[in-house]
Amino acid sequence: MKKFLSIILITFSYSFEVANAVGEYGAVASSKKQSSEIGVQILKNGGNAIDAAVAVAFSLAVTHPSAGNIGGGGFMVIRLANGEVTTIDFREKAPLSSFKDMFLDSTGTVIPGKSRYSAQAAGVPGTVYGLGYAHEKYGTLPWDILLYPAIQLAKYGFDLDYHNVRILNSERYKTLLSHDKESMKIFVKDSPFKINEKLIQKDLSNTLSRIAKYGYLEFYQGLTADYIVDCMKRTGGIISHEDLISYKVVERNPIEFDYRGYTIYSMPPPSSGGITLANILNQLELIDLAEYSPRSSEYIHLLVEIEKRAYADRAEYLGDMDFVNIPLDEMISDEYAYDRYSTISHRRATCSKKINHGIINVMEESEETTHFSIVDKYGNSVSLTTTINGWFGNGITVDQAGFLLNNEMDDFSIKPGYPNMYGLIGNEANSIVPEKRMLSSMTPTIVENQDGDLFLVLGSPGGSTIITTVAQILINLIDFNMSLKESVESKRFHHQWLPDVIQTEKYSFNPDLVKSLNKYGHDIKIRSSIGEANCIMLDTLGIKYACSDSRRGGASVAY
Ligand code: DON
Repeated sequence: MKKFLSIILITFSYSFEVANAVGEYGAVASSKKQSSEIGVQILKNGGNAIDAAVAVAFSLAVTHPSAGNIGGGGFMVIRLANGEVTTIDFREKAPLSSFKDMFLDSTGTVIPGKSRYSAQAAGVPGTVYGLGYAHEKYGTLPWDILLYPAIQLAKYGFDLDYHNVRILNSERYKTLLSHDKESMKIFVKDSPFKINEKLIQKDLSNTLSRIAKYGYLEFYQGLTADYIVDCMKRTGGIISHEDLISYKVVERNPIEFDYRGYTIYSMPPPSSGGITLANILNQLELIDLAEYSPRSSEYIHLLVEIEKRAYADRAEYLGDMDFVNIPLDEMISDEYAYDRYSTISHRRATCSKKINHGIINVMEESEETTHFSIVDKYGNSVSLTTTINGWFGNGITVDQAGFLLNNEMDDFSIKPGYPNMYGLIGNEANSIVPEKRMLSSMTPTIVENQDGDLFLVLGSPGGSTIITTVAQILINLIDFNMSLKESVESKRFHHQWLPDVIQTEKYSFNPDLVKSLNKYGHDIKIRSSIGEANCIMLDTLGIKYACSDSRRGGASVAY
């Protein structure tokens, strides 16, 4: 009996460690249980991964109001069953009347908070266009059916979970949302929100119904557009009808590179995700990691030194490639990785001040986020990261429309060398220009195994830490042979060149490891948790293993 029990326990703990949900046909890993269930229902009804992505994204705008959105933007990597890979860039744009120094005063000093908590912090939203475009081109089920679950959840309310409640009740976000009378009506009340309390969003349900009935362009040309412009008048914002009418998504080729025989597809600029991930992993490929353990100071030192160089390059070269010339092929080449890696000492940390960007001859021609992953039974997959930037964006809700606006303008380099919300600095490549897209770190990624079959769909929120989160999950899986669950749950660390410090989660480094890293010359800072990955892995039989990070309570569903 005892033996029998222990076999059950071993089996249980084994399957728990591998993933949160396992299925033969399809899977959805997202930040919210209701949204993952909606996605799987669409898949069960015969929809493909793109249909499910549309339904999940709209439902997250209801169930995850701090990050899910229709007032923001994002990126989507799609791998079709035939192996074709494409990306859709639905990032926000700078409004037509924006200008380079709009967040500086007459002396050239940054006006505190203006790029984050004012109406002018909002870029022209791209989410609804992105979902509409993806559906038109790659979806199969009727548009209104895909919006229906989100409309119902907004109209009749959804049960708040622990994470919703924690953030809505926090002093910081209560204060932010109290600055706007429309936000206050929906998201602020005298008594604390309770777990399982229903949050009803009537205006949002009407907006979603209009989009369902008239199509995605309603947001840009219909009543919703009027409401956005009304809101701008009320709050001093600058998004105009012209901005909304001229907004377009861009379908782009993915960044594609090889890592130890796996083919990795990720997002090109205006996200820095794909290039910076390639820069990091191409350098790491020069090291045989079999010699190191994941918690050895040698490995952490080398990965951190690589990250410093990759983020220094990000700050110098990256921006919207429709506006600036980016040496893309060179930055993801093995030769460039070799040059960058050869400046690393195995014994000493290089002080970030001494690290400059790599030398590339640029040809002077022209110039709180959520991630979900979906795989369907046909073999299509979607990796989608979307955001309004900070939790609850700029805190302003569009009058009569019930959705929050983003504060994505802070992702521009508002002044050369001045850090954004995530401490990232930037340069001319990422300066504000009307209609330009601000640089992002979002890294929705899809990986094929050595045989060219779908292997992994992954991504995470977390601002500047998104890229290193995705990199560490890949390294844990591919190099350290961890299970998917272990790869995701494993403690993370992060370096972004400036500030010159290794940021790490609590209990990640033991005191001996800290001492040893200090000896290399690294400073270490413990911070709040890093990222919230939602991933799906496939084995060679095509079984789907879905995994949601326990850090923010995401949920995976498979069938
Ligand atoms: O695009 C970016 O890189 C940021 N706006 C993402 C923000 C984010 O991940 C917030 N999440 N916790």
